[in-house]
Amino acid sequence: MTATDTAKPQIITGKAKLAGVLGWPVAHSRSPVLHNYWLRRYGVDGAYVPLPVEPDAFVAAVLGLQAAGFRGANVTIPHKEAAFKIADVLDHSAQRAGAVNTLVFEDDGKIHGYSTDGAGFVASMEAAGLNPPKQAQALLLGAGGAARSVAAALQDCGLRVAVTNRTQGRAEELAKALPGLDVVPWNAWEQRLGTFSLLVNTTSLGMEGGPDAAFRPSLAHAGKELVVADIVYVPRITPLLAEAQSAGLHTLGGLGMLLHQARLGFQKWYGVNPEVDAATEAFVQESF
Ligand code: ATR
Repeated sequence: MTATDTAKPQIITGKAKLAGVLGWPVAHSRSPVLHNYWLRRYGVDGAYVPLPVEPDAFVAAVLGLQAAGFRGANVTIPHKEAAFKIADVLDHSAQRAGAVNTLVFEDDGKIHGYSTDGAGFVASMEAAGLNPPKQAQALLLGAGGAARSVAAALQDCGLRVAVTNRTQGRAEELAKALPGLDVVPWNAWEQRLGTFSLLVNTTSLGMEGGPDAAFRPSLAHAGKELVVADIVYVPRITPLLAEAQSAGLHTLGGLGMLLHQARLGFQKWYGVNPEVDAATEAFVQESF
């Protein structure tokens, strides 16, 4: 796709297919940029809008969107658990994640919920040609919602997964929700890195404006085949990824996950399976 194609006007007629992203706040979301890019690219009569909704108003907003003829919505922080509760039908990914990031309003009035974050992470790894061998061991930093989706998706791919978290109790809670998950103490993971072939940061450490933007752990104990991934995408190269690159390790940034997790919703709402390619990545990257 060329710059000329992205300059194609969006078609929004009286029959336009509508979707959006529910969040609080939502101003930082790149989803409107991405979905409207795809709508123009594929010439779909439709629109995708940011929907800033306070937690107390979430249920009313979802039912209101459904009543107004929306096809569905993405759901971001802090509504992913509320979206899980409001869905009438939960697919396997949502059940495993305990959360929903994609709502689809079906013609029969039922609300279907999906969690595409974990599958988006796996797809972005595959797209980058980084397929960790089955039976490989992955270590995830963090035990929040993002960790649960990624851990579940990696387990579903046959990997053995461990988590480490500043608050150990949360990691243990996660291990109860996802049988087979190992827990590594937060103060020991750097030393134990040699056991793992994939390291994924699922926390906001290293994120611009996050709790510790300079987060740059030691990778001195890493094996030389270790793949280091970060779900943070601002900055594109986090300090963790910079450390991995300087150690000569393979790295994966978070933008690919953001793009791949969006595909299922787009396909369900607008009827086109969108491509994640270099042009898509460049277009979204330019919006930062
Ligand atoms: P999400 O649902 O996006 O994963 P979350 O549930 O708030 O967000 O989880 C944030 C993760 O980042 C947690 O694992 C959190 O660790 P705690 O459970 O100990 O809070 C981790 N995190 C946030 N700030 C951190 C910090 N300064 N040091 C270490 N971990 C941190």
